[in-house]
Amino acid sequence: MRVMVLGAGGMLGHDLVATAPPEVTLFPFPRATLDITKHDAVAATLADVRPDVVINAAAYTLVDRAESEPQEAVRVNGAAVGALGRMARQVGARVIHFSTDYVFDGTATEPYTEERLRHPINAYGMSKLAGEKDLRASGAECLIVRTQWLFGVHGKSFPKTMWERARAGRATKVVRDQTGRPTYAPDLAAAVWTLLRRGVCGVMHVANRGEATWLDVAAHIFARAGKPDLLTACATADYPTPARRPRYSVLDTARAEQALGGPLPTWEDGIDRFLASPL
Ligand SMILES: NC(=O)c1ccc[n+]([C@@H]2O[C@H](COP(=O)([O-])OP(=O)(O)OC[C@H]3O[C@@H](n4cnc5c(N)ncnc54)[C@H](OP(=O)(O)O)[C@@H]3O)[C@@H](O)[C@H]2O)c1
Repeated sequence: MRVMVLGAGGMLGHDLVATAPPEVTLFPFPRATLDITKHDAVAATLADVRPDVVINAAAYTLVDRAESEPQEAVRVNGAAVGALGRMARQVGARVIHFSTDYVFDGTATEPYTEERLRHPINAYGMSKLAGEKDLRASGAECLIVRTQWLFGVHGKSFPKTMWERARAGRATKVVRDQTGRPTYAPDLAAAVWTLLRRGVCGVMHVANRGEATWLDVAAHIFARAGKPDLLTACATADYPTPARRPRYSVLDTARAEQALGGPLPTWEDGIDRFLASPL
């Protein structure tokens, strides 16, 4: 099977490449070699590679900056994804694309199923919602994987920052009133390869097992660093950011568990493997 990975230099893109199964002929494209907003280049590359599947891990992911440049976020996360879908349909390639818990407003009190009403509360979430809609409208055969709170060895992430602060002995305040599912990028990548092999289409929530606040995640990491006393709780209101965040955005992963034959490992297990890797 011929598989193109776009955004191959990003956190998830890197782990998709690293975990590709042997039967896959992989064509990884970091941003430097293929910009997904350059439609002519994307079309030429599709014609050249003739992929069976295109995995789009490229995205505009600067959540706070998107508030001041929403058009740029939509250009990458919306319009380019729709165009990719149309081009993929023309060459008969399936598309696997990633979306986010930030398409939801976070007012729920129980995990979000795939069908729940999407109502983003920030510009990044709106751009990702545009991508979901444009890809579905393109007519391409596709799987949209919504995930959340990703962390991995490549790139910045909250767990990495917490580990660095704990190791440096820095007192740290973390919000206790946002709840989600921390997700280890290699676990997500492995699940995606399984879903790809099984030909799963539609929308699917994939995240590590369990739920946590950011404070829970930080507490786990500071405990592992032997520095639990350096951590204190605060509220989102005490830590204003340009973009609003959903208060509760836990994704219901029952559909993925059915398709994969079981849940992903717990987020704590993911954090422990992350901390055991060379950071
Ligand atoms: N991180 C999370 O917590 C999270 C949560 C939910 C969903 N997701 C989704 O998961 C997917 C992967 O995210 P990630 O965490 O791996 O993000 P990431 O580390 O920021 O990777 C995204 C990659 O896309 C590249 N890119 C940006 N604009 C591009 C363009 N026009 N053409 C080609 N490549 C471009 C970036 O390159 P540069 O670095 O050079 O800009 C980067 O390498 C995204 O769809 C994201 O929305 C992420």
